[in-house]
Amino acid sequence: MTGIVVVGSLNADLVVRTERFPKPGETLHGSDLAVLPGGKSANQAVAAGRLGGTVRMIGAVGDDGNGALLRDSVAASGADVTHVAVRPGTATGTAVITVDAAGENTIVISGGANATLGPDDLPADAFEGAGVLGLCLEVSIDVVLAAARAARAAGVTVLTNLSPFGDVPAELLELTDVLLVNEHEAAELGEHGVRRSIVTRGGAGCTVHDGDDDPVSIDAVRVDPVDTTGCGDAFMGAVALRLAAGDPLVDAARFAASVGAFAATKAGAQASYPTTAELEQFLRA
Ligand code: RIB
Repeated sequence: MTGIVVVGSLNADLVVRTERFPKPGETLHGSDLAVLPGGKSANQAVAAGRLGGTVRMIGAVGDDGNGALLRDSVAASGADVTHVAVRPGTATGTAVITVDAAGENTIVISGGANATLGPDDLPADAFEGAGVLGLCLEVSIDVVLAAARAARAAGVTVLTNLSPFGDVPAELLELTDVLLVNEHEAAELGEHGVRRSIVTRGGAGCTVHDGDDDPVSIDAVRVDPVDTTGCGDAFMGAVALRLAAGDPLVDAARFAASVGAFAATKAGAQASYPTTAELEQFLRA
């Protein structure tokens, strides 16, 4: 199997559970604070690594306890963290997250060290032995584009998740081989010209568009959600893993649907991702 390179964010997730989300101006009591490893890109790397992928993470953290938490968590999944830079005097990125009784979440991110990641942080051999690059929009568009250009030049499949959604340069879409968006992002984006894409619809499954083939709808694996934080990242990491193994996109999405569902049954992002053995047991139950 060829390797997976993930270029992007690492966040410490500051999570409080509440019965329901506060209205603007309202104060509610919540659970004890949990500080958990997160960040969309780190989550993708951990999801793929825990399932046996060969993963390299490229990103930046601060020289603080949260940075150590993140590097340790990504490394524990088996991913290579050699190129997760530690920035002296900079705070690690954070995400302030509330999770309600239904397992839904709200997330506000503070970039911290993620905002310092630039094209110069991409090592010359970044894509050696790689088959797939995973990107999201939690780091600067400059580094996202630089990584996508270099990956394309190296013949690596560029898998782009347009979250958090914002201005999307046309060049990024041109450099993207496979687009991963949720239904809201898809509606905001409109016509995009990427021939291979997956549109996720939460509990309603996803739709795979693969070139001239008819679109394929894949049902969600039914679960009682505990916490949906990071389920989309688990899905993306699993898609990257299966594309790197040479699977057709529709098979990769079907596998990813089960990984995303597993992640919804446990609290946290990275903390909720399965090993292969755990996934097999979940699918047998
Ligand atoms: O997608 C979930 C992730 O979004 C969280 O882990 C948080 O850090 C934000 O990046």
